Amino acid sequence: MVETIEWTDAGVVMIDQTRLPREQVFVTCRSYVEVAVAIRSMVIRGAPAIGVAAAMGVALGVQEDADFERVCETLASTRPTAVNLFWAIDRMRTLRASLKGVPREELVRRMIEEAKKIRLDDIAICRAMGKHGAALVPDGKTVLTHCNAGALATAGYGTALGVIRAAAEAGKNIDVFADETRPFLQGARLTAWELQQDGIPTTLITDNMAGHFLHSGRIGCVVVGADRIAANGDVANKIGTYSLAVLAKENNVPFYVAAPVSTFDLTLESGDSIPIEQRSAEEVTHVFGVPVAPENIAVENPAFDVTPARYVTAIISERGVARAPYEESLRRLAEAKS
Ligand code: MRU
Repeated sequence: MVETIEWTDAGVVMIDQTRLPREQVFVTCRSYVEVAVAIRSMVIRGAPAIGVAAAMGVALGVQEDADFERVCETLASTRPTAVNLFWAIDRMRTLRASLKGVPREELVRRMIEEAKKIRLDDIAICRAMGKHGAALVPDGKTVLTHCNAGALATAGYGTALGVIRAAAEAGKNIDVFADETRPFLQGARLTAWELQQDGIPTTLITDNMAGHFLHSGRIGCVVVGADRIAANGDVANKIGTYSLAVLAKENNVPFYVAAPVSTFDLTLESGDSIPIEQRSAEEVTHVFGVPVAPENIAVENPAFDVTPARYVTAIISERGVARAPYEESLRRLAEAKS
């Protein structure tokens, strides 16, 4: 499996996800500002991976002896929707506060150690999520997924793709339909590539084909990731997820969301208050730099949408599976010991 992100003596090394699958190029971030740029430009993306990058960015900032609040604010201002970003920064902030008065060398060492731990924990969390989720995947059917919630979107193994991997490892006879995921094409570029590397049979479809296949009886379940889950079970995920969930319900296909507890935001009552990132018009008007729309056309480009909890069959976490009523089940998982 590909290494998404790693701490090295030279800096934080990430595979450049803007260039996959055509080129496998690694970027080395040597400062917290470079990590912030990598997150914003989607060299690294996917909620858990963004969290790991932010933690490593904070550690780099401490190593650089930069103003701590400025480091945290710069990283926090990169992308607004994935709550894992803020969760990771808070965890690093809490550690730093507990190390007040500790000699600088020791402080730097402990901050780096914590960032590395967040990365390793994330891989273990994905594997645990996979185990819980694999049981829900019907044997002998196709799994439909959207965007990329795989090894590339985490420190390794993946959330939604972790569930798919675990089902395949458990011997289930499954194949995958990957939505291409306009406009950034995470499905076509990243999910298709990742699953192909694993030898899991995968078929690429355009987003507007999903309804056709959900109606066909071929799809056994939909599994997606999440960027933020509100206390009532509303789920923010890549734009297009909501349409998929409605189509799944219409066709009696279970709709599963796989996400670590760090993606839960129980401070928000519902998905209505989840901030939705708006990205550049050019992502919509251009494909790989080539214009496909008339100049000066008005464009909307929300990067995420919110799927109301009533469309979500279950939420798969590393601590178990939550079902409605989500107010209770999500809180129980959040309070449970790992
Ligand atoms: O804009 P992206 O590529 O960061 O969006 C990613 C998604 O929407 C993923 O589904 C989500 O972050 C979960 S990743 C395990």
